[in-house]
Amino acid sequence: MSGTGGAISHPCGALAGKARAPGDKSVSHRALMLAGVAVGETRIDKLLEGEDVLATAAALRALGVEIERIEPGCWRVHGRGVGGLTEPEDVLDMGNSGTAARLLLGLLATHKLTATLTGDASLRSRPMRRVSEPLSRFGAAFHGRTGGQLPLTVVGADVPVPIRYELPVASAQVKSAVLLAGLNTPGETVVVEPMPTRDHTERMLRHFGACVQQEEGGVVRLTGEPELTARPISVPGDISSAAFPLVAAAILPDSCVTVTGVGLNPGRIGLLETLREMGAALAVANERVEGGEPVGDITVTWSPLAAVDVPPERVPGMIDEFPILAVAATFAEGTTRMSGLGELRVKESDRLGVMAAGLAACGVEVRESADTLEVDGGRPRGGVQIESRLDHRIAMAFMVLGMGAREAVQIDDITPVATSFPNFVGLMNGLGAALEA
Ligand code: S3P
Repeated sequence: MSGTGGAISHPCGALAGKARAPGDKSVSHRALMLAGVAVGETRIDKLLEGEDVLATAAALRALGVEIERIEPGCWRVHGRGVGGLTEPEDVLDMGNSGTAARLLLGLLATHKLTATLTGDASLRSRPMRRVSEPLSRFGAAFHGRTGGQLPLTVVGADVPVPIRYELPVASAQVKSAVLLAGLNTPGETVVVEPMPTRDHTERMLRHFGACVQQEEGGVVRLTGEPELTARPISVPGDISSAAFPLVAAAILPDSCVTVTGVGLNPGRIGLLETLREMGAALAVANERVEGGEPVGDITVTWSPLAAVDVPPERVPGMIDEFPILAVAATFAEGTTRMSGLGELRVKESDRLGVMAAGLAACGVEVRESADTLEVDGGRPRGGVQIESRLDHRIAMAFMVLGMGAREAVQIDDITPVATSFPNFVGLMNGLGAALEA
């Protein structure tokens, strides 16, 4: 992705109102992919129509899946059945999306075909050995550059063999890539995770009729070669997107904001726990289950925030929320300490380094190590331009910071925001922000 669409976030007053978060990005990718290998027609409602998900849809079409957009958010996928994807004619461009690339490599690793995946400059710099290594054990071969990043060619296994894989890092993407490879593999594929991560893949596989067992000790077992049957899916709102208006309400005095229909997967709610510990007035109402995922409406009413220590075991449950948590920390009394953050260095940008540098430029006292971040509270000065570095969450985090800073914050390029939250500026301004795109 490229572009020169800058933005200015002006300091603003209290936020008020109700909004719906865009569809969950993780669930949207999985919905398209699993519908693509189910038998029959799957209707998906409230799909996130962000660029990352559109890249997944385009790749699946190139692999022979019929996909139709019926109306905004409502899509129909005519699946080809497990093992039914066909060889693409051209390179598959996964844009900015690590999830799309890694999960698709998993699916393709056990199809008898050859495909080449690439992506934008951010995605081409991200580690892929974490998936190519376990996927090779199924019998797939990978050809690419030194370092193993995209562009990467996968030659799918002719006769896949099931594996048992202990994840060296807590990663839902790697776990999912292995499980998706296990679909077109006879026998039982087993993944063991060191810490619990989001289990959207496991839930959705069961939704489509696969046998997936989650056991004590982080063991996940999938019985291979299931017949997946098309079933409707309603995509919950993305808690990682809802986090931006909710934190904005938590830092701007006298605000009260409700975000409705937010997914509350147990592997995604670490930010809510942390904000509560900081003293945020946060209420969850109307809790229900939609398409196998827990969902609720979240209201944040402003109250003063205090610093906290975020323990490393909470990191997987809020892995994408550290940029916005670091912003919340700048408005809290005291020093917030976050540890176990090594994985942040290999996200869409080096989020640990980029947040530390951006906050320091805004006048915040920060200290960074290889995998920790300390942020001193005190209203930030702002008055600078931040580079978003092809990272949607960096762009949104600094726009929220600008709303509460003393002086406006400028972002060089907010076009990456379209990967996950296409209506971010409109939604935030509707609640009372003063964002100028
Ligand atoms: C995701 C898992 C996380 C997260 C990413 C989405 C997923 O990545 O950061 O935005 O959909 O499985 P890792 O698995 O690399 O931690």
